[in-house]
Formats: sequence, structure tokens, C-alpha cells
Amino acid sequence: MYAQVMEGLRIREDGTYLDGTFGRGGHARGVLQQLNAGGRLLLMDKDPEAILVAEREFSADPRVSIHRGSFTDLAHWALAQQGLDGVLFDLGVSSPQLDVAERGFSFGKDGPLDMRMDPDSGESAAQWLAQADDREIADVLWTYGEEKQSRRIARAIVARRDDAPLTRTAQLAELIASVVPRGAQKIHPATRSFQAIRIFINRELEDLEHGLDAALAALKPGGRLAVISFHSLEDRIVKRFILQHAKAPPANRRMPVEIAFTPTLAMIGGSRKATEAELAVNPRARSAVLRVAEKLAGAA
Ligand SMILES: C[S@@+](CC[C@H](N)C(=O)[O-])C[C@H]1O[C@@H](n2cnc3c(N)ncnc32)[C@H](O)[C@@H]1O
Repeated sequence: MYAQVMEGLRIREDGTYLDGTFGRGGHARGVLQQLNAGGRLLLMDKDPEAILVAEREFSADPRVSIHRGSFTDLAHWALAQQGLDGVLFDLGVSSPQLDVAERGFSFGKDGPLDMRMDPDSGESAAQWLAQADDREIADVLWTYGEEKQSRRIARAIVARRDDAPLTRTAQLAELIASVVPRGAQKIHPATRSFQAIRIFINRELEDLEHGLDAALAALKPGGRLAVISFHSLEDRIVKRFILQHAKAPPANRRMPVEIAFTPTLAMIGGSRKATEAELAVNPRARSAVLRVAEKLAGAA
């Protein structure tokens, strides 16, 4: 999605841009290359390891500022409040988060059952699974993973933890595989559950809703918002947010007085998917969807 993001942001060389999900800086580097000495790039990530990489690579560049935290907090970052020409959110987990067993995101690599993007805040997956009741666990698996076996898995987790706490990713993956009928599915039986627990533990959908509001407030008129989502629940939130600000709600025959609607965003193109060439290099981009919107002149 690299080329499409660069095109979607329509970068001005003296503009101020925020990459709210630095990761390992693939997109950030691309933005920076297009800025002149007057341009600014603000970098955020929840993950301390991402921030270390950002500091190592960019702290000497006077155009770059770095802040560790959730993009939901961008209203509290004074630099971001001076007006942004573009905001990028590339949602979900980064490849290093998935690939390093110690982060506890992967069912394929044994590690501590953590799954927090910010390991210094909130509960780990192990802590949550140790005390949530089976109904709550089943709801999370169903809501964020569309896991059809959610109740069966939740009951198995609660029964197993009475014998010994679930502390490792491999324990959880094996437990799920032992209770889910393999059937014809090609993916590992723990795929949906791991995704669901990760989304829940990191409050990913709540963060996205608040982050979109914060981004719109911080954008200058004419500024662009680009969001890459990896999950249909995320994409639905992004699409609804853009439409809500771009199009008047359908007329309601029961309302005697029409409520005036002033659009604050314009949708730029439709949803974009990764090209075949990108997929050949990065197969994880298969479920990625990019949406772009522009803040309208006259919007507050
Ligand atoms: C898909 S990766 C981004 C990859 C990045 N665009 C690149 O080119 O390397 C997502 C990153 O966003 C971070 N992240 C996810 N939600 C966040 C949030 N609410 N606030 C800040 N960072 C977040 C994750 O820690 C992860 O490093």
C-alpha cells in the first residue's frame, strides 16, 4: 500500500504530517523523503520498541518529532495541535510484533501470552484469561474473531485454567486446536481466537474511533487522512466515519424540520487494495484496505 498511501496523502514538501503508527517506519521514511527543510514529520507508536527504532533512525533530523503513545492522545501533543496536512494510521500489528515470540502475539511461536502493543499498560492476555468468565471470553472471540466455536473454546479455557494457569502462547494454541474441529479450514484453528484476544486487549476498535475524531480535529482544511485497516470491523468504522462526515444522512420523513448538514470531509476515491506486485513481496497485505479522505475548507 506504500505507493497508494504516498499518492493518497498528496504530500506537500513544506507540510506537517503525522504517522500515528510508526511500526518500523516504512511509510514514515517515504513521507520524509518528500519533505524539504520546512516540512515536519510527527511520529507516534504505542510500542516502546517501535519508538526505539524511530529515535535511533530519526532523532537527529530536525524535521522529525517522536512521541510514544496511542494516536488517541494526539489531542494532547502540542505539536500535533498546530495543524496537520496529513495523518496516516496503518492499523494492526507490525511484522516484528508478530515475528518476535516474546511479544506473545503469535500462535505459531511459543512465548509469554502477552499480546500488548504497549507492554507497560493494561492487562496481558494471560492476566485477562486468568479471570474473565466464560461468557465474556466467548463474547470477545465471537465479536472480534467471528469464531463460531467461541463458547466451546471459552469453556475449555476456563476448565483448563483451574488445573494450571495459561501463560504461554503455545498452551493456548494447543488447547484451542484440541477443541475446535479441524474441518476443511486452511488456517490454524487458533487464528481467529488470537486475533480476537489481541484486538480486545489493545482496545483496537475503541482506539480507532477516538483516533479518527482526534485526527479530523487536528487536520488543517485541505489536509488528508489515510487509514489502512486489516480487519472488516476496522474498515467498517473507517468507512462509516468518512461517510458520516461527507454525506448528509438520509431524509427522515418523521422529522418535520430538516437538519442542516455541512460536510467536513470529502472521500477521495473508494477503497483500495494491495496490488499483486505488493502481495508477492508481502502476503500479509492481502486483507489490507486503504481509505483516504480530505478535510474540507470551511470545516472547523
Ligand atoms: C502495521 S504496523 C505499522 C507499520 C508501519 N506503517 C511501517 O511502515 O512500518 C502498526 C503499528 O501501529 C502501532 N499501533 C497500533 N495501534 C496504535 C495506536 N492506537 N496508537 C499508536 N500506535 C499504534 C503498533 O504498535 C504497530 O507498531
